[in-house]
Amino acid sequence: MKTRIAIDGPAGAGKSTVARAVAKKLGLAYLDTGAMYRAVTLAALRKKANLYDNKVLESLTAGLVIDIKSAEDGQNIIYLNGEDVTAAIRLPEVSRHVSIVARCAEVREILVQKQKEIGRRGNIVMDGRDIGTNVMPDAEYKIFLTASLEERARRRMFELREKGEHIELEQMIKEIEARDKIDTERECSPLRQADDAILVDTTNMTIAEVVDKIVDIVAGRKD
Ligand code: DC
Repeated sequence: MKTRIAIDGPAGAGKSTVARAVAKKLGLAYLDTGAMYRAVTLAALRKKANLYDNKVLESLTAGLVIDIKSAEDGQNIIYLNGEDVTAAIRLPEVSRHVSIVARCAEVREILVQKQKEIGRRGNIVMDGRDIGTNVMPDAEYKIFLTASLEERARRRMFELREKGEHIELEQMIKEIEARDKIDTERECSPLRQADDAILVDTTNMTIAEVVDKIVDIVAGRKD
């Protein structure tokens, strides 16, 4: 039997960290689909492309080779036309623009097709915004991870500080709020909880607790 776990939710809910840990515990592959939108955004910014021109974004995306490999620790290593861009796609400049690129239906079509192909192989944890609703609507397990806006902003702020980037909480809240708005209000596959997804609010939970909860759900211990 295939095990496909879809983890969706807003920015800063802990999806990537949790998804990676769940994959490791259960011996499954892991795909961070947000990294693919980030890779396209990085390429578009480098080309100084107009992020509001769908045709420009479409031809740019069609011409890119995005490869994803797994590191020892399970983290995804992202290659853009052969270049390792794993660190570059996390730069604040990319984070600030990625929601605009992810709105583009033509970009989504190209990336979703690739994600669906990977999903069909099974035994995978995939995280994103539309995994349970669109990429793997028939996934065996669907989790919708969320947390309060302030907590999500706080997490992102600490993550950036660890990388030496200082940003005030107030500004982080505004940035996350702006991304939430674009991600949930866009026309094409907006972020929403699938009807059959289990909601997990991580505001007052540790990463280990969230991971255990999902592993329990998969093991059928609770729902
Ligand atoms: O999870 P993340 O912060 O790396 O996601 C980056 C952006 O990509 C985010 O603004 C939403 C978008 N995204 C999406 O629209 N669909 C996905 N499956 C994954 C990410």
